[in-house]
Amino acid sequence: MPRILHFPALNSTNAYAKEHARELENGTVVCAEEQTAGRGRFNRKWFSAKGGLYFSVLLKTENTQYLPNLTQLMALCICQTVRELGVPAQLKWPNDVLVNGKKLSGILSEAVLENNRFYALVIGVGINIRQPDLGHVGQPAVSLGELHISVTARELLNALLARFNARLPKALAEGFSSFGQEYKALFPYIGQTVCITAADRQHTGTVRDISSAGTLLLNTPQGPKEFSIGDMNA
Ligand code: BTN
Repeated sequence: MPRILHFPALNSTNAYAKEHARELENGTVVCAEEQTAGRGRFNRKWFSAKGGLYFSVLLKTENTQYLPNLTQLMALCICQTVRELGVPAQLKWPNDVLVNGKKLSGILSEAVLENNRFYALVIGVGINIRQPDLGHVGQPAVSLGELHISVTARELLNALLARFNARLPKALAEGFSSFGQEYKALFPYIGQTVCITAADRQHTGTVRDISSAGTLLLNTPQGPKEFSIGDMNA
């Protein structure tokens, strides 16, 4: 089992994992009961009151080919883990987990650089369990407690890490294709009209597919487009 560092409070588990990347072993998990400066994607704030699960996994890997896919694998593992608890969770590309259109979990992955070269990846996960106030995270949110699911942060973390670590070696070697069928089975947007925000531009179109590399394929009035990063709104 990887080493898990538990803290009562941190500014951000991602910030801690990045700051201490050198001295922490590959696979170390940094977990905090609450965060005072939790961060989301696109410089958003991530409300991190006690009662949620907040953790970051530090991955020191030489193989950087499939890094974005590791975040997608984490999203899939979260989705599958909460589905086992009876939650009808689904995936929103690239790595959000939603229940009935409301956000249950988000992931912020960040690279640690050394001398301008990739050194490690930090995959930061927030899951709403039973915080009194979910705050505003840019879209409607939901917690496991509101769905009448009783699970502790520690139980959820252990189940999720077991699943993720079992799948990680194959994902590092083969990328999205090692779990793509499972991801697509939980991705309900194929054929739907969505808006993708990427590089400050908005692109509206119909989702054609997720490619074997995990990119989003969109049919737009201007022709087919492919996105490897972005924010999707249905
Ligand atoms: C998002 O959907 O915008 C991503 C949210 C990621 C939040 C997690 S909580 C643990 C880790 N530490 C942070 O500061 N952010 C991530």
